Order: sequence, then C-alpha cells, then structure tokens
Amino acid sequence: MAKSENQENAPLYFDLNTGAKIPAVGLGTWKAPSGLVGDAVITAIKAGYRHIDCARVYENEKEVGDALKKLFFEGVVKRSEIWITSKLWCSDHAPEDVSKALSKTLENLQLDYIDLYLIHWPIRTKPGSRGFESEVMLPLCLEETWNAMEGLYASGQARAIGVSNFSTKKLQNLLGIAKVPPAVNQVECHPMWQQPSLHHFCKSSGVHLSAYSPLGSPGSWVKGEVLKELILIELAEKLQKSPAQVALRWGLQSGHSVLPKSTSEARVKENLDLFSWSIPKDLFDKLSEIKQARLLRGDFAIHEAGPYKSLEELWDGEI
Ligand code: A2P
Repeated sequence: MAKSENQENAPLYFDLNTGAKIPAVGLGTWKAPSGLVGDAVITAIKAGYRHIDCARVYENEKEVGDALKKLFFEGVVKRSEIWITSKLWCSDHAPEDVSKALSKTLENLQLDYIDLYLIHWPIRTKPGSRGFESEVMLPLCLEETWNAMEGLYASGQARAIGVSNFSTKKLQNLLGIAKVPPAVNQVECHPMWQQPSLHHFCKSSGVHLSAYSPLGSPGSWVKGEVLKELILIELAEKLQKSPAQVALRWGLQSGHSVLPKSTSEARVKENLDLFSWSIPKDLFDKLSEIKQARLLRGDFAIHEAGPYKSLEELWDGEI
C-alpha cells in the first residue's frame, strides 16, 4: 500500500459516488444469532453506531427490524440518521426476483427504503435454492441483474446500489455495462488480506471499498487468525489498544468502512472506540509486512462442471 494512503485523521463517514455519506463503522450481523442480534443492534445504536450491515441470507433481518422499530419508537434515533445495508442473495439474481427479494428484506427490516443494496456474490443459483450444489449453479446474468438493481435505485427503494465479493476484473466488467455505477464493493479486508490492487482500482474508479470480516472472523471456521498476528499484537501493545481496535483502525486509515460483528456489549463498544487515536505512519507501514491470506475463499462455489471451476476463476487470480 502506498505510504501516502495512511490517513491518520480517519473520518466518521466516507463519501459515496451517489453523494451520500456512509458511516465509517457499521455493526456486522453475519453469524449474529437470533435472540442476540436485536440486543446487539440496540447496544450499538445507543453506543453511537449509525450503520448496520445486514443480508437476507443471515436469517435475522426480522429481529434487526424489531430492534430498529423499538429504537425509532423510543426516539433514540431517527430513520434518517442511520444507514442500513442489505444484500441480494445468489438465488434471486433473475431480474424478476430482484425487486421481490428487496421487498422481503424491507418487510423484515420494517423499513420503506434501504440505504445500500448489494449483490451479495458474483454467483447465481437456481431460484428457491439455498446451497451451492453443482446442479443449482447457473452462469451469471450480471447485466440483467444489475439493470434490475438500477430499477430499485431509480424507484428510491435502494438509495445506493453496489456489489460484494467482486474481484477487480468483475468490477471492471460491471463498470463497463452499468448506467448507475456501483457505489460500494464490500469484500473481505483486514490486515491479513489487504488487497492493495483491488483497493487502488476501487479508489481510482470511485467505488468505496467496505470491509467485511475486518477482524478476520475469529472463532469461525476460517483458517488464519488475524488477531493473533504478532505484528498486530506488538503494535497494539505499543498503542495500548486491543489487536481488534488496531485492525479496525488500519481499515479506517486505509479509507475503508469497517463492519465488525459482535454480540457482546463490551466488544461492540470497544469496536467503536477508534476515533480519538491513530496509528502513526511508521507503525501503519509495519502492518504491510503481515503474511497475506484470503480467509473466506468461496470454495463452496467451485464445481468442475459449474460456472467457476477454480478459485482462480472466482477471484480472477486474486487469491
Ligand atoms: P463476539 O460476537 O462474541 O464479540 P468479524 O467481524 O471479523 O467477522 O469478527 C467477528 C468475530 O469477532 C465474532 O466472533 C466476535 O465475537 C469477535 N469479536 C468482535 N469484536 C471483538 C473484539 N473487539 N475482540 C475480539 N474478538 C472480537
């Protein structure tokens, strides 16, 4: 990463190409279980978060919606003050299903618009399917799907549209056919998977890079433990911050919004305590020495007879 990209004064919001401002820290809700996710949303908003990252496939949008309704009712926050993202699942790529999928998400979230709607993966499966068995895999119909996404943007139901898990090449292809360019590419990004070339492409094409799994999803099935990286731990000790805070602050100083998931009140708060300090340039540059590895590789989508025969094809070599 170019040294000049370490912005020590990380902003609370990043500008999108729509003119909107996306809050720099959002609460992730992937793997946030039912019974806990609603309280996590309430804790987060009360602690000062203004951004919740959701997806229909997480199967918890109804509980997130109930929590939001309560927060609005109690006057803790207004709808216009918060940013809600959700995502179109792989089985809903057929153009006639795109609007129906957003309607279902809005019904669950109990909202009448979404701030950002993303194509969750550059992967298409048969309507109604949940898994990724070879018989349900279909080739992408990106132009048609994106056209339907543009319809949601035009209607105001989605105030910004974008993608997730897109490689540089796939993003480039989309920019070539889009009438409304994607505002965001939400991808795995943390000190162990910094993606400098995707970062530069996004920056030069006006697409904001939003970082999911910014802590490397510790405790899940992924291989590789970002928070146990020695360089990160040493740096955290020097700065008297936790490794998680340093990982998140690295994201902000790189110009990415970060979406840490937590259902623990203490960690939800810890993950927002990122704005009264910074990583000095010399220490920031040390983080580029961490050995790089994609942790969420998408092996599930790879089939010999399917549209993606290898991880190389899925990520266009960025693996
Ligand atoms: P928990 O929900 O019990 O706090 P990611 O956002 O990269 O997917 O990581 C999410 C995982 O990281 C969850 O297991 C979450 O557990 C844990 N986590 C969240 N915040 C912190 C933190 N500040 N320190 C350590 N682990 C954290």
